[in-house]
Amino acid sequence: MAEILPEKPGTEEKKVDMDNFTWQEKAGLSMKTPIGLFGVALTTVCLTLTVLGLLGHITGLIENPYAAIVTFLVFPAGAVFGLLLIPISWYFRRKKWFKDNINMGNVIIDFGKRSHRRLVTLILVLSVVNLTVFALVVYEAYHFTESDFFCGAICHTVMDPEYTAYQRSPHAKVGCVSCHIGSGAEWYVKAKLSGLRQVKAVLDGSYSTPIPAPVAHLRPAQDTCEECHWPEKFHGKKIKEFVSFTNDDQGNAQIQEIALHIGGRNPMTDTFEGIHWHVSNNVKVEYHSLDEKRTSIGAIKVTKPSGVTEEYSLDGATSDGTEGYWRTMDCVDCHNRPTHVYDDLASSVDLGLYSKKINPEIPGIREDSLEVLQKEYISREEAKAQIVESLLALQAERHGASFVAANEQTLITSGAYLLDTYMANVWPKMKVSWGTYKQHLGHQNEEEGYGCFRCHDDEHQTAFGKTISQSCDLCHDEP
Ligand code: HEC
Ligand code: HEC
Ligand code: HEC
Ligand code: HEC
Ligand code: HEC
Repeated sequence: MAEILPEKPGTEEKKVDMDNFTWQEKAGLSMKTPIGLFGVALTTVCLTLTVLGLLGHITGLIENPYAAIVTFLVFPAGAVFGLLLIPISWYFRRKKWFKDNINMGNVIIDFGKRSHRRLVTLILVLSVVNLTVFALVVYEAYHFTESDFFCGAICHTVMDPEYTAYQRSPHAKVGCVSCHIGSGAEWYVKAKLSGLRQVKAVLDGSYSTPIPAPVAHLRPAQDTCEECHWPEKFHGKKIKEFVSFTNDDQGNAQIQEIALHIGGRNPMTDTFEGIHWHVSNNVKVEYHSLDEKRTSIGAIKVTKPSGVTEEYSLDGATSDGTEGYWRTMDCVDCHNRPTHVYDDLASSVDLGLYSKKINPEIPGIREDSLEVLQKEYISREEAKAQIVESLLALQAERHGASFVAANEQTLITSGAYLLDTYMANVWPKMKVSWGTYKQHLGHQNEEEGYGCFRCHDDEHQTAFGKTISQSCDLCHDEP
C-alpha cells in the first residue's frame, strides 16, 4: 500500500521508534488525526440519522417534507463529506511525514496476520453498508420527488391552492405526476428540468401569482387521462342537478336537472356521438386560439378518418396569421379543472342553504353571506379572524343587536361554514380568489369566453354556411 518515501536531499533521516506505531499508522491509514476522527464521527452520526430518517419515512411515522429533505439530502451529504475527510486526513499525515523526513518504510498487507484481515474485512463490510444505505436513499429520494406530498407541500404557499382543491376532488388518490408527467423517460426529464426552474422561481420569489392556466406545456391527454379513462367506454346520459336560490327566496330551491349526452360509440351505427365525439378516435378536432387563455377561438378544423376536412371560422378571423396558435382538442379543453376544482361563489352559498349549514330561516343571510365571502381579506389568517364577526356585524346592521344575540349560535354555525368555504377557495397571497380559475365544462362563464359556446355559438361557419349547433338538446335534455 505505501511506498518508501524518497529522502529529501541533504537532510538526515529522522530516527523514529517504529515500534510505537501500529502497522496501519505506518501505512498512513490511521484515522487518529483530528480531521480523520472528525470525519469518522460525522459519517457515523449522519449515517445513523439517515437510517433512522429512512425507517421513519418508509414506515410512515415521519411525514414532514422538511424531515424528508434532511433525510434525503442533508444527512447523506454529511455522511459523504465525512467519508471524504478520511482519505484527506491520510494525505495530510503522509505529507507531514514527508516534510519531517520520517520514513515509515514499506507496508505490505499480509493476510496471514489477523489484524490485517480484520482491517480489510472491516473496510469491505463498511463499504457494503454505506453503499446499501446510499442506494436506499437514492431510491426513496426518487419516489419522494414524485410524491403528491412533495409536489403539493414543498412549494407550500405556491401550490397550496392546487393541492387543497385536489385533495377534495375525485382525483385525490391519483398522483400529481399521473397527469402532470405521465410515464416515460422523456417526460420525466422534461418535468425534472421544469421542476428545477420552478424551485428556482420559488426560492427567488419570481413565480407568477396566480400560477397561469392553461399550463403551457401540459402533456397531451392521450398520454395521461387516457391511461385511466378510455373514450371508447363512454356511454349513455348523465343526470346532473343544479341547485340555486335567490336573495328573495332563501327557502325554496330552484332545482334544474339536465341529462347530459355523454355519448360514446353507438353499437347500432358503430359511430361516435354525443359530447365525447370530439375525442373519439374517428375524428380530430383542431382549433385556432386567438389568445393564450384559449377563450377566443378564431377557427375550428374537423378531420374525419376518410381525410375529409371541414373548417369553420369567424367572419374576419384568419387562421394563418401570426396571432394565436393551433391546438388539437383533447380532454383538458373541456375538463380543464378535473382536479383543481374551485367552487363558484353563489353555488357555494346556495349549497350551504340547501344543506342547511347556512340557516335559511335567517332573513337576508344569503345576501350577507355573499358579501362576507366577497370581501377582500389581506390574508387567510385575517379571514379566519374576521369572517364570523363580519357575518354577525352585517346581521346586526340588518336586524339589530338583540336579533343577533338571540340567534348567535346559528349565525356562528353559518359563519363557520362560510369560513370553511373561503379557506377552500381563496388564497390572497397567490391572488387566487372566486373565479380566478374558471372551467370550460358547460356554459356558465360564456361571457368571459369559457365553455362550449366558444365554438357552439352559431357564428363560426364553413364556406357553405354550416355552423356548430347551439341548440339546447344537442348536449342535454330534460331527464
Ligand atoms: C387528474 C389530473 C391532475 C392531477 C392528479 C393533478 N393535476 Fe394539476 N392540473 C391538471 C390540469 C388539467 C390542469 C390545468 C390545465 C390547463 O388549464 O391547462 C392543472 C393545473 C395545475 C397547475 C397550474 C395552475 C392551475 O390551477 O391551473 C398547478 C400548479 C398544478 N396543476 C399542480 C398540481 C399538483 C401540485 C398536483 C398534485 C397535488 C396536481 N396538480 C395534480 C391536472 C391534474
Ligand atoms: C391514474 C388514473 C387517472 C388519471 C390519469 C385520470 N383520472 Fe380521471 N378519474 C380517475 C378515477 C379513479 C376517478 C374517480 C371515479 C369515481 O369516483 O367514480 C376519476 C374521475 C374522473 C371524472 C369524473 C369526475 C366526477 O365528478 O364524476 C372525470 C371527468 C375525469 N376523471 C377526467 C379526467 C381527466 C380530464 C384526466 C386527465 C387530465 C384524468 N381524469 C386523469 C382516474 C384517473
Ligand atoms: C367536448 C368537451 C369534452 C371533452 C373533449 C371531453 N369531455 Fe368528458 N365530459 C364532458 C362533459 C360535458 C361531461 C359531463 C359533465 C359532468 O360530468 O360534469 C363529461 C363527463 C366525463 C366523465 C364522467 C362520465 C360519467 O359517466 O360520469 C369522464 C370520466 C370524462 N368526461 C372523461 C373525459 C376524458 C378522459 C376525456 C378525454 C379523452 C374527455 N372526458 C373529453 C365534456 C368533455
Ligand atoms: C373547439 C371547438 C369546440 C368546443 C370548445 C366544443 N365543441 Fe362540441 N363540437 C364542435 C364541432 C366542430 C362539432 C361538430 C359539428 C358538426 O359536425 O355538426 C361539435 C359537435 C358536438 C356534438 C355533437 C356530436 C355528434 O355528432 O353527436 C356535441 C354533443 C357537442 N359538440 C357537445 C359539446 C360540449 C358539451 C362542449 C363543451 C363541454 C363542446 N361541445 C365544446 C366543436 C367544439
Ligand atoms: C354544446 C353543448 C351545450 C349546448 C348547446 C347547451 N348546453 Fe346547457 N349545458 C351544457 C353542459 C355540458 C352543461 C353542464 C355543465 C356542468 O357540468 O357543470 C350545461 C348546463 C346547463 C344548465 C345548468 C347549469 C347552469 O348554467 O345553470 C342549464 C340551465 C343549461 N345548460 C341550459 C341550456 C340551454 C337553455 C341551452 C340552449 C340555449 C343550452 N343549455 C345549450 C352544454 C350545452
